[in-house]
Amino acid sequence: MRAALAPAGGPGRTTASNARQNGHELDSTLTLGSPAATEALARAIAPHLGPGDMVGLSGGLGAGKSTFARALVAARLAALGRAEDIPSPSYTLVQTYELDGVELWHADLYRLASPAEAGELGLEDAFATAITVVEWAERLGAALPARRLMLSLELVPGADDARRARLSAEGPGWDWLPAVLAEAA
Ligand SMILES: Nc1ncnc2c1ncn2[C@@H]1O[C@H](COP(=O)(O)OP(=O)(O)OP(=O)(O)O)[C@@H](O)[C@H]1O
Ligand SMILES: [Mg+2]
Repeated sequence: MRAALAPAGGPGRTTASNARQNGHELDSTLTLGSPAATEALARAIAPHLGPGDMVGLSGGLGAGKSTFARALVAARLAALGRAEDIPSPSYTLVQTYELDGVELWHADLYRLASPAEAGELGLEDAFATAITVVEWAERLGAALPARRLMLSLELVPGADDARRARLSAEGPGWDWLPAVLAEAA
């Protein structure tokens, strides 16, 4: 039996609702009330990720994808006592980090020419072996891995610092997520 999500609430930071879990699926919406809340969610997810885990980020310009991705990368580096620059992969498309026994790939696919280019970049192999955090993940098209954790971010009209977030997990191995979301709520 899996843990249920906590009811929506909390001190105006992050609220979670609409959780549903069917077998290997999880789908949940949250409001992230500030950049700090988005970073806190990234830091909460980061320690749970292992080889073969792909986190796909979607949402328009300025939605908060890079804010989330950089906080996630920073958390995994900090866990190893490392404080390093986290360059934007906007132009290189990928930045890789050697962690303890696993690679971490940070990709920004805004400039991806075609889904086939993901293979050329080595991303499709990385999906199987590395931790991958992918901005503009929807640009992968058919190269999107079946087992994935997707986070989509949307602006909230009238609330500059808030983002509507939808987290959906596909495939097995995301059992830790409900407890992380309950903690964030
Ligand atoms: N709740 C929030 N979560 C994340 N960012 C927020 C939030 N509220 C405001 N912001 C601001 O929105 C901007 C998000 O920028 P960011 O680079 O993370 O977006 P992005 O989705 O990567 O955009 P792009 O596709 O243009 O690269 C930052 O300036 C950040 O401070
Ligand atoms: Mg970005």
